[in-house]
Amino acid sequence: MDESIELRVNGTPVKVPPGTVVAAAVARAGVVKFRTSVLAAPRGPLCGMGICMECRVIINGDAHSRSCQTLCAPGMDVWTT
Ligand code: FES
Repeated sequence: MDESIELRVNGTPVKVPPGTVVAAAVARAGVVKFRTSVLAAPRGPLCGMGICMECRVIINGDAHSRSCQTLCAPGMDVWTT
């Protein structure tokens, strides 16, 4: 039985094992730029523990969600910027 969780990253379906954080799902989708800084620089996860805020993405319409601190859920809709 397949227990994987399916979500979408920038509209692309991605399957991950239960317990996977959104940052890992975004990486699995092949996306390396999680957000864009105010100076137009590409940003991505740095600390992996909820401190740096560099991994922020839009999750189910909620902007500035820390992808390294959020577990994937079925049907989740994730967008990078
Ligand atoms: S990687 Fe630093 S807060 Fe998510």
